[in-house]
Amino acid sequence: MKSAVEAPIKDPGLDSEEARQRKKYMVDLFVVQARNYDFHDDVYGFYAHRFWVRSLLNVVKGFMQGRASARMLDLACGTGFVAFNVANKFANIDIDGFDISPDMITVAQERCQKGFEGRKINFWVGDAEVAYGEKMYDIITTSFAFRNFVNKNLATENVFRALKPGGVFIIQDLTKPEHQPLKGFYLFYMKYILPIITRILGTEKTAAGWLLKSVRMMPKNSEIKSLLEGKGFTGVYYRSLTLGIACLIVGYKPGELYE
Ligand SMILES: C[S@@+](CC[C@H](N)C(=O)[O-])C[C@H]1O[C@@H](n2cnc3c(N)ncnc32)[C@H](O)[C@@H]1O
Repeated sequence: MKSAVEAPIKDPGLDSEEARQRKKYMVDLFVVQARNYDFHDDVYGFYAHRFWVRSLLNVVKGFMQGRASARMLDLACGTGFVAFNVANKFANIDIDGFDISPDMITVAQERCQKGFEGRKINFWVGDAEVAYGEKMYDIITTSFAFRNFVNKNLATENVFRALKPGGVFIIQDLTKPEHQPLKGFYLFYMKYILPIITRILGTEKTAAGWLLKSVRMMPKNSEIKSLLEGKGFTGVYYRSLTLGIACLIVGYKPGELYE
């Protein structure tokens, strides 16, 4: 992957009005969305996230080679989609997950109680932009949430701090396809078709608009790579998924486990 030097990603700051408003919007959005979130995701996204999660699981599988156990954090875990996918595949990974939305966390906790009794899986409400620990995790994932972080620098610094040396950070998210004709079709779908589907499903009425806006605001893969490298990550690489509709970005905290 070419190593371009990108302009730094600028953030408004933790205490900014923009951060306050966007986080409030997230919390309010998922009051309405949390119960139907996974079903709606399947409908809007044609089940794509169920395919995309396999790339994330493959990175986890590679990381786990030769390891007896690991501790993972799923950052902005939502209803626990990634956490439960990892738990189903790896009995030797203990999992924490937190999210800014109390409603998403309630759904995650209920699912955990129903399907994962006896496993070390914990969910709580928290903000990815506020420091949450030091050298605690071997693996940190964040799926379809990075573009929602208002202060991406702070979120990335917190991940770096919370990883153990040698730990891996895996980002999966939506991006805009860069090439025609998919770019045109994608934007048409997001702008005109998605709002109709969301209306039929009874989704919160601003959700489709926000999705399009957040994808447009998402930095390019190379910019996120530069961000990670600037915070100290090494071995950073990215892959486009489904012709650039989504991406997988991986970086490692330097340390003896990696070197
Ligand atoms: C599109 S959902 C993805 C949820 C889940 N990771 C998945 O893959 O299904 C985005 C999530 O990011 C959460 N989020 C947004 N900003 C956050 C922040 N600053 N800290 C923690 N969670 C955040 C939202 O509440 C929401 O649950």
